Amino acid sequence: MIKACIFDLDGVIVDTAKYHFLAWKRLAAELGFEFTKENNERLKGVSRMHSLEILFELGNINLSQEKKEELAAKKNEWYREYILKMKPDEILPGVLNFLEDLKKNKIKIALGSASRNAFTILERVSIKKYFDAIIDGTKVSKAKPNPEIFLKAAHSVGEKPENCVVFEDAQAGVEAAINAGIQVIGIGSPVTLKKANFIVPDLTKFNLQYLNMIFENK
Ligand code: BG6
Ligand code: MG
Repeated sequence: MIKACIFDLDGVIVDTAKYHFLAWKRLAAELGFEFTKENNERLKGVSRMHSLEILFELGNINLSQEKKEELAAKKNEWYREYILKMKPDEILPGVLNFLEDLKKNKIKIALGSASRNAFTILERVSIKKYFDAIIDGTKVSKAKPNPEIFLKAAHSVGEKPENCVVFEDAQAGVEAAINAGIQVIGIGSPVTLKKANFIVPDLTKFNLQYLNMIFENK
């Protein structure tokens, strides 16, 4: 019986992946190499510093820790220029109806996002009120695929992992849910998310009845 739903943020609730991509691309250009959309797939769900390390690997770059922190801060400033302009119409299709349905049926709602900008985004798109618990990048020390973030989210809403379900668009996030012993719905492509229990292209038409049906049939 599902008692709590745990949502990733970037790529599940809002399409901020495009803003992360633009900011990383700008940084790569400044460092003298091209950063492609294919490269960007590797950064989804991954923390800011780890993303920078992947970027350095792609560009064959080696810099001091101090310089790394400076560049991560610069990327974040550019990223924040985009998210500070976000409006509620950037919430992805189907999300609001699904959250309303969960609330109506007293299913707990938690956020499990690696982002340290999660509060800003939730406030910008006016969706914070739906969440019973918010676990973001400021509250964990181990990045996805480590299960810490989702275990904390389940614990924060007082539910056992087996009574929760995670919604994720990133491979690292799907693995984190599996590592936490939580069932996971992949949002996006079956090619990248094949380890998920069930995969949908987006949350359009998703509701609690559908969710219960998926897990009853498993
Ligand atoms: C994840 C994104 O949700 O958050 C990653 O998928 C991002 O792309 C990570 O790097 C950290 O985000 P932020 O906002 O703290 O830089
Ligand atoms: Mg995501």
